[in-house]
Amino acid sequence: MQTYLRGRDLIGDLDFSREEVETVLDVAFDLKRKRALGEPHAYLRDKVLAMLFFFSSTRTRGSFEAGMAQLGGHAAFIESRTTQISHGDTEKEMGEIFGRYFDGIAIRHVDWGIGNRYLNLVAEASRVPILNMQCEIYHPFQILADLMTIIEKKGRDLRRKKMVVSWAYASSYLKPISVPQSLILQMPRFGLDVVLAHPPEFQLMPEIMEQAREQARKYKTGFEITDSMEDGFRDADIVYAKSWGPLLTTTDPDKGKQIQDKYESWITDEKKMALAKDDAIYMHPLPADRNIEITDAVIDGEQSVVFDEAENRLHVQKAVMALTMA
Ligand code: CP
Repeated sequence: MQTYLRGRDLIGDLDFSREEVETVLDVAFDLKRKRALGEPHAYLRDKVLAMLFFFSSTRTRGSFEAGMAQLGGHAAFIESRTTQISHGDTEKEMGEIFGRYFDGIAIRHVDWGIGNRYLNLVAEASRVPILNMQCEIYHPFQILADLMTIIEKKGRDLRRKKMVVSWAYASSYLKPISVPQSLILQMPRFGLDVVLAHPPEFQLMPEIMEQAREQARKYKTGFEITDSMEDGFRDADIVYAKSWGPLLTTTDPDKGKQIQDKYESWITDEKKMALAKDDAIYMHPLPADRNIEITDAVIDGEQSVVFDEAENRLHVQKAVMALTMA
C-alpha cells in the first residue's frame, strides 16, 4: 500500500501510480463501509477545500461538498464569475492566496485549450493540493468512481474483460472529451481490454491515444479502435457509451452540431445492449440526453449502474481528499 500521498495534486489520471490508485480504492471502500455503518470518520477536521467552478455541475459539487462535511471539514463553493478573476486575479494570485486560506483547491475548468493549463499554473503557485474536478483533457475523479463501480460489479480481477468506450449521439451541447480520454488512460492499468468506438470526426487527442496505447502495452491489455458502435458493443462486459464533441475536428459549436447530427443512430438502446454479454453493465457519468443518447429502457434497466457510479464519486473523492489533505 502506497500511503504517502499527502500534499500531492491530482490533475491527470496518471499522476497517481497504479499502486497509489489501489490505495485510493482501498480507502474509498473503507469510507463507504464506515458511512453505511454510521461510523464517524472525521479525518479532515477543521480543514477547508476551495471548490472553484468555471462550469456548471450537479454531482461534482454535491459530492465534494458532502464529502468534506462528512470528513469533518468544510467546502467553500466559489463560482469564478463571482470572483475578481475577470478583473485581473491570475493563476498565480489564485494559487498563492487560496493556498494560504485553504487546505486544498479543487477546480473545474473545461474550456478548450485553457482549462488544463489553468489548473497547472495554479498548482505551480499553490502550497496545497490541486484537485481536478474536470478540465478539457481529464476527469480523474469520475474515472476513479467508475473503476470502483466496475470492481463492485465484476470483481477485482478484471483481466480479459472487455470494456467498450463508445461515442453516443447527443443534441444538448458539445460535451468535453475528458471522460473517454481518462477512461482509456486508467482502465488498461487494471487489466481491462478497451475498445474505443466513435465516428471518424470524434477522435481523441493524439498524445492521449499514444499514452493509452503505452499503458495497454505495459499492462498487456487490449486496446482497439472501431468506427462501428455495434462492433464495439459485441461481447462487451462493460458498456460505457456517452457523447463528446468533435473537438479535434472543430471547436465551433454550430459546425460541431452539424457533424454530430449526422450520427443520430448512435443511441444506446436495448437492441445494441443485446449485442453485449448477458451480464454486461451499462455506465454513464451523467448528465445524459435521455432518449437521444440513451433510451429510458436501458438507463433505467437492470444492466444500468449509473446511480452507483454517481454515489461512488463521493467515496473516491473522500479517499483522495483524506490522503492528500490530512
Ligand atoms: N459526472 C459529472 O461530472 O457530473 P456533473 O457535471 O454534474 O458534476
